Amino acid sequence: MDDTKELALGYTRASDTQFNAGLFLLRKLAITSGMRACSTSANLTAHIADNLVSGPSSSVPTTPNYEQSVRNNLSFFQGRAEDLSSFPADSFDVVFINSTLHWVHDQPAAVTEFARVLAPGGKLGVSGGSGDFVTAQERVKADEAPPRFLRRSEMERLLDNARFKREREIVVNKIVKEAKDADAKDADAKDADVMIDWLDVSSSGKTYGGIPLDLKPRAREEKKRGWEKIADGETGKVRMEMELLVTVAVV
Ligand SMILES: C[S@@+](CC[C@H](N)C(=O)[O-])C[C@H]1O[C@@H](n2cnc3c(N)ncnc32)[C@H](O)[C@@H]1O
Repeated sequence: MDDTKELALGYTRASDTQFNAGLFLLRKLAITSGMRACSTSANLTAHIADNLVSGPSSSVPTTPNYEQSVRNNLSFFQGRAEDLSSFPADSFDVVFINSTLHWVHDQPAAVTEFARVLAPGGKLGVSGGSGDFVTAQERVKADEAPPRFLRRSEMERLLDNARFKREREIVVNKIVKEAKDADAKDADAKDADVMIDWLDVSSSGKTYGGIPLDLKPRAREEKKRGWEKIADGETGKVRMEMELLVTVAVV
């Protein structure tokens, strides 16, 4: 299923978890004024264009209808991480990819492209779910088109193959996603609905993969029962512990 405007707007409303994970990554990258940055995150690139960078920044979201705010030092391109041919080699000092690499179809091609567009000494930052950790989402009900979270060893191999330097920082960022009333679509929405909606917009609709439209309500009910089963016994809250693999590597 393709990304849609509705999913993109839903994501913009409810993606503070990813935004905060992105800020963790940006702190690790220690971006300073004048650096040229490229990212798949429109919102985070706008954040650094406003706050940190005086040099040109580029964002490559795949969502055509993403609300694109205009800044002098920020430009948007629509494309895929696997093909950054709009940019010559050595174009950037920083490339960062937040909450996205696990959705990229050809991860080795993307990492090779990141190495190509980075100038010598430039930094790659990646943050995304760790393949070394099993989340409640995976236990509740198998998704049709699940993300491909990378194990630390797989990330190391991708970086080695794309000729990143061996000295690199890889840490685990432990976070908790909690279903918040503020993110509910309507007054009747239960915590489980909020969690399912968040997973849906965060995956650009892939949680339901190729399920035909008429079977989606049944799949949703199944997921809902799964989440309700693992809600906190005392508070009734639906929450999910997550481990993000955060990587900074240099070319
Ligand atoms: C969870 S969102 C993350 C958005 C943003 N990076 C952030 O930090 O909030 C996942 C994004 O991955 C994008 N995506 C999926 N496949 C991609 C690819 N091959 N190249 C670039 N982006 C891709 C989707 O369009 C979606 O916007």
